[in-house]
Amino acid sequence: MSDAPPAAPAALRPRLDATAYQALTDAARRDPKRYWRKEMGRLDWIQTPNEIFDDSKGWFADGKLNASINCLDRHLKQRGEQTAVIWQAEDRDTNLHLTYRELHARVCRMANVLRHQGVKRGDRVAIHLPSVVEGIVGMLACARLGAMHVVLFGGFSAEAIADRLADSGAVLAITANVGRRGAKRIPFKVTMDAALALRPDALAVRTVLVVEVTDDPVPMQAGRDLLLAPLLADASTECAPESMNANDPLFLLYTSGSTGKPKGIVHGTGGYLLWAAYTQEMVFDHQNGDIFWCTADIGWITGHSYVVYGPLANGGTVLLFEGMPSHPGPGRWWEVIQQHKVTTFYTSPTAIRALMREGDDVPARYDLSTLRVLGTVGEPISHDAWAWFDDVIGQKRCALVDTWWQTETGGIMISPIPGAVKEKPASATLPLPGVRPLLLDEKGYPIEGAGEGILCLDGSWPGHALTIWQDDALFKTTYLAPYPGHYFTGDGARRDEDGYYWITGRVDDVINVSGHRIGSAEIEDALAADHAIAESAAIGIPHDLKGQSIVVYLVPRHENADGLAERAMKIIAAKVGRYAVPEIIHIVPDLPKTRSGKNVRRLMRKIACGEREGFGDLSTLADPGVVKVLIEIVNRGD
Ligand code: WTA
Repeated sequence: MSDAPPAAPAALRPRLDATAYQALTDAARRDPKRYWRKEMGRLDWIQTPNEIFDDSKGWFADGKLNASINCLDRHLKQRGEQTAVIWQAEDRDTNLHLTYRELHARVCRMANVLRHQGVKRGDRVAIHLPSVVEGIVGMLACARLGAMHVVLFGGFSAEAIADRLADSGAVLAITANVGRRGAKRIPFKVTMDAALALRPDALAVRTVLVVEVTDDPVPMQAGRDLLLAPLLADASTECAPESMNANDPLFLLYTSGSTGKPKGIVHGTGGYLLWAAYTQEMVFDHQNGDIFWCTADIGWITGHSYVVYGPLANGGTVLLFEGMPSHPGPGRWWEVIQQHKVTTFYTSPTAIRALMREGDDVPARYDLSTLRVLGTVGEPISHDAWAWFDDVIGQKRCALVDTWWQTETGGIMISPIPGAVKEKPASATLPLPGVRPLLLDEKGYPIEGAGEGILCLDGSWPGHALTIWQDDALFKTTYLAPYPGHYFTGDGARRDEDGYYWITGRVDDVINVSGHRIGSAEIEDALAADHAIAESAAIGIPHDLKGQSIVVYLVPRHENADGLAERAMKIIAAKVGRYAVPEIIHIVPDLPKTRSGKNVRRLMRKIACGEREGFGDLSTLADPGVVKVLIEIVNRGD
């Protein structure tokens, strides 16, 4: 293949226009079952469903399928020699192009290794890996066997991993000797070992399979740990897939909510896969020949739906990049786009803000003319970041899609559609056909027309999560009980005169740092275990680069609090992960509480943001004097 740039920049040739969008939206609203009966034809079913949707049985209840057949086998005839995955290593000169046939063979080998290690349908398999191909292969191998994958974010601490291994009951873990981050080495296996040692009695992990990403040495425990490469080499490239019911779980994925305990969100096989495929094609205007790059880690839902399931179900080519945006220089991502002729680029506002700071001359050195659709996800995008992405990266000729969705929704819910839904800078715009958002006021009454309120969703959609692993009651109280009859998203939004949505951020106690969800309670619970800490409150405040940053107010148990803030930082890093370490810890004598003992976070947030007045009525506080004390402490910067 020649490295010469294409003659002309990529042009948008969208498959939908505004009329088609309206027609689909109307059709999905008028007769959802009919609409989804047609759409389910996107998937290959072992048994085509007759039942489309039922409140108690969910989506496609009598259908049978296998997700790995949909992402691999069914493409072999038409596109067996097409590249399915391009893997670009941290170092420039190493990359790998895997065709669908090769990916299929690798997945079958991996599935056979897992089967040989005793993994059965319904088991949970933990995957804790850097951005290497084995992550995708491991996920699809689980899908082939009907085992649920539990992908654990690379940034989790050993304790966070142990909690999730215990909750999921995973029987096997796949990890790596190390991950590469620039010149640094991240000790994946050592972290996994530490997690497994934390509570050997509570964990069901029997086997640890180790990917050797580098030739760094790796500690191995006899009888438990096995190097993966020799097992794969010996395994067969054929593996019969399990026939799964549409509502058999495909995976569980941990996310944060208002409680300290991690929530294992469970997604089903049929509805989820259909949603991933439907949204990937529609929102990214997926076309033959596209090179789709979603920069998310596979440890988050964005990686599940848009690195793996959506694009592969659609027979696309995905790019997986091992490295960082800024290594060895600030132009690395743009270099990857140029090198691999990326057409579709999906990333986070945090990354855009960081890259923007490097100056326009950095991307100007690269040929970005292959780009056609640019997307963002995970947090609200500011106007300046949107405009920069549009101008400097998209060169004003790309579609820009600000996509709103969550782990629980399985895939994109509100987003522009290239050619069909006109963008407004920094707005997630309109719901996809089949999605019915609504805004409620604080009392739970619907807001009609333009206004601002709590974002809820009406009805169901195929990507709707099945439940929370082993806690269906929590699923119902979290999402279905707050506003009966509607699904509660936890987000606030504004709707303008054109019906466009503008997401304003979380209305619950979830903090969004660089697009990562962190529950206040996760941090507070971690700190509560320390005998020198009487109480704490974690809140999110606006941050230029990360969207939000974490501030902790900490009440010591003893007068002498020397070194307590540093210790608290260490505790959070150890129990949750480095990504959850607060920017600032204020040591305070007390927290503002209502007379019934509830922390008043709204006040703490205002004070941490530097506000000194406009606190409203303080007479409901148990001790209004606390406010003055907190202001003084925050002013002093303690
Ligand atoms: C936030 C990530 C504004 C929101 C896919 C949501 C957004 C949470 C957007 C879900 C967006 C996601 N604009 N905010 N386009 N997309 N969010 O589960 O608060 O990791 O509830 O899923 O991210 O985060 P999660």
